[in-house]
Amino acid sequence: MSKTMNFTNPENGEVTELPMIEGTLGPAGVDVRSVYGQQGIFTYDPSFSSTCSCDSAITYIDGGNGILLYRGYPVDQLAKNSSFIEVAYLLLNGELPNASELEEFDTAIRRHTMLNESLTKFFQGFRYDAHPMAMLTGVVGSLSGFYHDTTDIYNPEHRKIFARRMIAKIPTIAAAAYKRYVGQPFVYPKNELDYCSNLLRMLFAVPAEEYEVDPVAAKALDVLFILHADHEQNASTSTVRMAGSTGCNPYAAISSGIAALWGPAHGGANEAVLRMLDQIGDVSQIPRFIEKAKDKNDPFRLMGFGHRVYKNFDPRANIIREYCHQVLEHLGMEDNPLFELALKLEEVALNDDYFKEKKLYPNVDFYSGIIYKALGIPVNMFTPMFAIARTVGWCAHWMEMIGDPAMRIARPRQIYVGSDQRDYVQMNQR
Ligand code: SDX
Repeated sequence: MSKTMNFTNPENGEVTELPMIEGTLGPAGVDVRSVYGQQGIFTYDPSFSSTCSCDSAITYIDGGNGILLYRGYPVDQLAKNSSFIEVAYLLLNGELPNASELEEFDTAIRRHTMLNESLTKFFQGFRYDAHPMAMLTGVVGSLSGFYHDTTDIYNPEHRKIFARRMIAKIPTIAAAAYKRYVGQPFVYPKNELDYCSNLLRMLFAVPAEEYEVDPVAAKALDVLFILHADHEQNASTSTVRMAGSTGCNPYAAISSGIAALWGPAHGGANEAVLRMLDQIGDVSQIPRFIEKAKDKNDPFRLMGFGHRVYKNFDPRANIIREYCHQVLEHLGMEDNPLFELALKLEEVALNDDYFKEKKLYPNVDFYSGIIYKALGIPVNMFTPMFAIARTVGWCAHWMEMIGDPAMRIARPRQIYVGSDQRDYVQMNQR
């Protein structure tokens, strides 16, 4: 006997029995789809804090216990034992690949990293100092104009080719945006390099000298990308699902996700954290900025702190903090002043009643920027780094949604609070 919840209309006492939906893990949901049809009443949850937009088998988050699973595997185990390409396969297909499956997938990705040559000219159309995220949004959206051979989104083979192309090309596009920004020539990908080594070379190689990839830097990026690959129904993934539910070209849907990720409350936070640390400047200024963050009249927030779901700790932040130590030590930057400032800021905030009461802990963005900066990646490329990793999650969720025969266009309703109906007023009457 499945469980139900009664919805009683306060106007007339009419009762609608609503079925409960149980998942594998986590809270159950009450299915409210029949409420409006039966009771003429909407449910109301403007920022979706208590609302499930779908059911999904990709990622599970337990915000209270700091648990993050990709297809059931704990993210700390994947960060320790796996690779970003293997995690990409897992998120897209639901199972870890065997050796031959991984080989085939890795080879396919390496062979789709180039851009159509005319696409490389798009970057010249941007102002020299355009933010790389503006270029990513525009160029990824334009990909829909290049691949007319695989636009049948209801063909599983077309969906598979799209995902491989998108995951393969996003590093090339991000690196090209960076080269446009710094005024250096575009660097073509090299198929013999792994995913993150290829990205580092496309970012930092110049024609004037040979470029040697630092394997520790490539490994650091690989771990960061694993940790950023997916995060269930976050704002940018929900945007990809919403856009994709109209049946639009998948490259356009991913472009909408990139635009959503750019916001400082979301993926733009890693860039905002570094700007905030530069603004604080010194540990002596920490108390002043902690007070600013607590002041309701001050728009300043502690960037990299807080999370809609994690109300204990963000498991990714803990892994990245630890990894920060290792990378900085390898690079001979153990006494990196930014890292020292971040550690002290975290210590002071976590001992402050305001942050404890509101359950505000460091999130994935708090330490990632320190590693990116130590690797020589400029601050305005931090969010593009996040976008490269999250492209895997966006593709996985888009494929899961489009592959669901029950999928319908997403179309929320509203509570109307505007003017009552009124007649037009002629100009001489106003
Ligand atoms: C990401 O959703 C995801 O999964 C996102 C992400 C992913 O992998 O996709 O995890 C990636 O986006 C991480 C979050 C990065 N953003 C930041 O670090 C920006 C700073 N954080 C805040 O903007 C905020 O914490 C959010 C946006 C992350 C969460 O916002 P919520 O859940 O809507 O929380 P809230 O704004 O309602 O805050 C609750 C209270 C408020 O005070 P009261 O109104 O209750 O008095 O906490 C306060 C807020 O003012 N608060 C902060 C704060 N974050 C929340 N106060 C100071 N500094 C902060 N950082």
